[in-house]
Amino acid sequence: MREFTTPQALQTFRRSLTGSIGFVPTMGALHNGHISLIKESVAHNDHTIVSIFVNPTQFLEGEDLDKYPRKIEADLKICEMAGVEAVFMPTTDAVYNPDEMRFLAPRVKGYILEGYHRPGHFDGMLQIVLKLLNLVRPTRAYFGKKDAQQLYLIQKMVHDLYLDTEIVPCEIVREEDGLALSSRNIYLSDSDRIRALTLSKALKHATHLIISGERKSEAIIQEMKQVLNVDKLDYIAIVDRNFDRLEEVIVKESIILIAAWVGGTRLIDNIWV
Ligand code: PAJ
Repeated sequence: MREFTTPQALQTFRRSLTGSIGFVPTMGALHNGHISLIKESVAHNDHTIVSIFVNPTQFLEGEDLDKYPRKIEADLKICEMAGVEAVFMPTTDAVYNPDEMRFLAPRVKGYILEGYHRPGHFDGMLQIVLKLLNLVRPTRAYFGKKDAQQLYLIQKMVHDLYLDTEIVPCEIVREEDGLALSSRNIYLSDSDRIRALTLSKALKHATHLIISGERKSEAIIQEMKQVLNVDKLDYIAIVDRNFDRLEEVIVKESIILIAAWVGGTRLIDNIWV
């Protein structure tokens, strides 16, 4: 497996490749969620490239940039075992300069929900994803539905800027008890982990309500709040696949989203219904 730390070295390698290229961007501390994306890419492309970069521009002041888990040795082993051909792991200085071109998230969809609670987060996320897509020029790039609004905005960027990459959405990988895998789960104490489970339980409860005929978003949201045991709820929202709010659930076209704090950890989860 090849390892690159500079954009120039990655570009030179990229130019030598023919055939289809799958790309999986990550911030490392790889878990089974990431691995499922990597496996999809390896299965459907001639070459798979993974990036591991804790992107500082998508963290807000006071967020967990400094304590975000970094496990580069273990990550490289995981990539190698999964059949990844090259890993790109740049330093911040290698991919950013002090007077960068700015790229901003769309004014509406980039500043609701996650973008409202983490203003500027999507600007930094899109900036790095655009750079990475331009460097790798992948045939397909793989993203998890876990970060549903991120996935939507990346699809929108590819559409709006005519990028020549297919964005492949991948299912959310969960623990057996329902907790969505996240690099941030390691912050949870045992008792917090039990409360963190109430996010997926609330989503499951919402699905049951919908199956039994409930369609009113507000009624579903109120019921979900009864299931949650969190320290602070940022939002529960029901949107369509374009992230427009729905007064009523439309079956097979809706996403139910939750963001909440458990202890000092901010968690997000969602379900596509
Ligand atoms: P990161 O949080 O490391 O996630 C990398 C990819 O893994 C994302 O597409 C995310 O949605 C996916 N993922 C995370 N947990 C998952 C789970 N439980 N099931 C399925 N997929 C999961 O998302 C980022 O990094 C960054 O914002 C990035 C896109 C790399 C830009 O910096």
